[in-house]
Amino acid sequence: MNTTQVIESAYDLLNRSILYYQGQPVGTAAALGDSVEAINYTECFVRDFVPCALVFLMDGQNDIVKNFLQLVAKMQSQQRVMEGHERAVGLMPASFRIPMEGGAETQPSADFGDRAIGRVAPVDSAMWWMLLLRAYVVTTGETQLAYQPEFQSSIRQTLELYLKESFETSPAMLVPDASFMIDRRMGVYGHPLEIQALFYGMLSTAQELLLPTPENQQVLINVKKRLQTLRSYVRIYFWLDQRRLNEIHRYRSEEFGTEAVNLFNIYPETIPEWIDGWVPEDSGYFVGNLGAGRMDFRFFAFGNLLAVLFGLATEDQSRQLMNLYLERWDELVGAMPVKIVYPAVTGEKWAYTTGSDPKNVPWSYHNGGHWPCLIWAFVGAAIRTGHRHMGHNILEMAMQKLPQDQWPEYYDGKTGTLIGRRANFHQTWSAAATIVAHRFLNDDASEKVFQSIIFN
Ligand code: GLC
Repeated sequence: MNTTQVIESAYDLLNRSILYYQGQPVGTAAALGDSVEAINYTECFVRDFVPCALVFLMDGQNDIVKNFLQLVAKMQSQQRVMEGHERAVGLMPASFRIPMEGGAETQPSADFGDRAIGRVAPVDSAMWWMLLLRAYVVTTGETQLAYQPEFQSSIRQTLELYLKESFETSPAMLVPDASFMIDRRMGVYGHPLEIQALFYGMLSTAQELLLPTPENQQVLINVKKRLQTLRSYVRIYFWLDQRRLNEIHRYRSEEFGTEAVNLFNIYPETIPEWIDGWVPEDSGYFVGNLGAGRMDFRFFAFGNLLAVLFGLATEDQSRQLMNLYLERWDELVGAMPVKIVYPAVTGEKWAYTTGSDPKNVPWSYHNGGHWPCLIWAFVGAAIRTGHRHMGHNILEMAMQKLPQDQWPEYYDGKTGTLIGRRANFHQTWSAAATIVAHRFLNDDASEKVFQSIIFN
């Protein structure tokens, strides 16, 4: 297939996935096809809609994005009771479904984790919603949408929930396992990087979109403070390069008091074997998680790429991250961009990290699988750091396989050569991410949309 045919195939999937409510387009189904793995793949997932929305914005199909933003904001006010427990207002749904014509349901119905496998909390949804609102406003110039009272109150409610003090001991946000794209138990509770990057993006957005009304005053002050403390915290303590690894390797432990250097009491013994020699000179990355006695050294792609896009990483860190990709290409990209996490957890560690999850066996799905839906973020980060050629390389690889393989959800194996064992086919965000990446690289008119998802 040539490029035009590949993009046509991606558009065909994207257009067929559009969901309508009362005659209006409001979202996209996560996957098409007769035998989707789980029943909720026919629903519109908030996070999956993001790359789709970027395509719609590039094409001037702004209505679907606006309808989606309005519908999801409305759902936010439907408070959810879960096993008798009232969920906080401010959360946004993981996904929603549209009633079938003539069916008993008449309203779109949202899943706040109360139906989801494992009853996980979709902490990332409200953050993606806000980021998408900004993308809409920047692209269309329709600032009024964000300024309308319903949206101001949605933004405020979310911030009040997300900035509420609970048991944090640092500016990083504390969440349960499986609260974002990795929505199954994977040892990503605590302070996962992806959540910190999204949190940073959301706070940056709020600073731009919240009006300085008396009602918003306190929340704006809190946003500004948290933005600064979060930024320096992640840049210093999550960052890992050779110099830092040397420091940790020689860390003293059991330090008490305010002068402590090893703040979290990380024992050098916890440094995993694989990392010895793995991070070349002049490269580095943000580790996956950080807490008491715990540094999760695993490399999580999406959090790192978002840190580059949102300017959470310094310029130097961004450059070093892309160097790591260049040097560790086989492990982090392999045959299909890009690996979601490196390395996989195996053996007993797999059993207690995932709860013996057969979908997340080593080098599969969230546990070291390769996810084409991340292509747009990779290409965005490559462009931002002046590595367009890398972007072209990965796009080329992806385009050669994805349509032939029927747009799978993910790939398996150490280097991503196998189609995911339980992958859906016709997975919408695999196609949308390919279109976004292609346009970022080849169409100057997409510049506005590119600017709408980065922060300086
Ligand atoms: C899986 C993924 C999640 C995605 C959903 C729909 O649950 O882990 O990130 O949103 O599928 O594609």
